[in-house]
Amino acid sequence: MLAIIGGTGLTRLRNLQITHRQVIRTQYGEPSGALTFGEINGQQVVFIARHGYGHTIPPHEINYRANITALAEQKVKRVISVCAVGGIRDNMPPGTLVLPHQIIDYTYGRKHTFFEGGDKPVTHIDFTEPYCHELRERILKAAGASKQALIDGGTYAATQGPRLETGAEINRIAGDGGDIVGMTGMPEAALAKEAGLSYAAIAVVSNWAAGRRESRYEIDMDAAESIFDEAIERVHRILEEVVKVDAD
Ligand code: HPA
Repeated sequence: MLAIIGGTGLTRLRNLQITHRQVIRTQYGEPSGALTFGEINGQQVVFIARHGYGHTIPPHEINYRANITALAEQKVKRVISVCAVGGIRDNMPPGTLVLPHQIIDYTYGRKHTFFEGGDKPVTHIDFTEPYCHELRERILKAAGASKQALIDGGTYAATQGPRLETGAEINRIAGDGGDIVGMTGMPEAALAKEAGLSYAAIAVVSNWAAGRRESRYEIDMDAAESIFDEAIERVHRILEEVVKVDAD
């Protein structure tokens, strides 16, 4: 089954014929909310809203381990994350959809691994390619089939938040190779890999990152609201298509 983790702007899935909701407790505590099960185009999908259905959980307080565990326990194989980001690179203005291929993790103090505590053997997962190549290909195919522009590749910089970055921090991130910046990409991607799930993310640029273009002096998160809403609409179309390729 395919799972979709919805971020800011995506607290429900259009066209999801809901069959049931399930509240799940895991050994790591409670996920962000009930899992919503349903079908899109006849394919089974499970959805969870990363920040809770009322958008009340800030990025650093999300129980990423519980969310991934809850999905893994549903026999989910593939997870598509949808996340809002700031655009750093010139060709990534608000409204752009990006399929990142790399991650730089600047977060701290988050519960970021399943491999700790008790008498678990020391385990180092390979994370050279943080996103699943095959799932990325499926998403690209779906974007092509639904005629939605999606930039293939980009480095996602995960910051701690909940505050936005300083202009200097964005310059540093750009120097490090970061193309887009968000607060929820990690440890989610690493935990998915630890759990053996295929994971990829569709990043939706909601604003220019701090210090860039319209965000030169200040970020106005509402400035590009209609552009962001329209981009989320395009994500829905890609997701409707991806369930078809997921069935192959
Ligand atoms: N920075 C960090 N996270 C974000 C941003 C940003 O500019 N926009 C959306 N999520």
